[in-house]
Amino acid sequence: MNKKRKELIVSAITNGTVIDHIPTESVFQVIRILGLDKTNRQVYFGTNLESKKYGLKGIIKISDKFFEKDEINKIALVAPSATLIVIKDYEVVYKSDVKTPERIDKIVKCFNPNCITNKENVETHFKVVYDEEGKMKLSCRYCEKNTSKANFVFV
Ligand code: CTP
Ligand code: ZN
Repeated sequence: MNKKRKELIVSAITNGTVIDHIPTESVFQVIRILGLDKTNRQVYFGTNLESKKYGLKGIIKISDKFFEKDEINKIALVAPSATLIVIKDYEVVYKSDVKTPERIDKIVKCFNPNCITNKENVETHFKVVYDEEGKMKLSCRYCEKNTSKANFVFV
């Protein structure tokens, strides 16, 4: 084992946010839902990177970007294992695991085409619930139908 840390596998950033410990298969989904495919900021990412904790992981680094609550909730929904790291002047100034909230408002569409949120201009409100297998689902306040992760469509 080579113990020397020659350089970061994905370039260091001066200021901005690192999203670390993303399940490797979710990296492109995180990029898409955060609109990072359309930003004019610098974005660096890596997939299939080795991680002691998770086997293979992905990482995304965005220069000069500090996420708001809604954006962090989106990350929590598709990559609950993620760690957010804020970088200022090359130093790590803040590090925290994302937490799946108990409620999700606005950011996801209800799966039920007949739900009022899909028929009229009504914002979605969900409670986060878990099925018998422990899989997370969003239970709609209006139609009470569950939207599962495979059916998440982000607003
Ligand atoms: N990082 C960065 N740019 C910097 C400083 C750090 O992109 N200027 C990134 C590193 O690549 C790393 C993360 O921020 O992915 C956290 O940095 P640090 O705490 O120094 O790394 P580790 O000790 O390796 O963290 P951990 O063991 O928690 O993964
Ligand atoms: Zn609904």
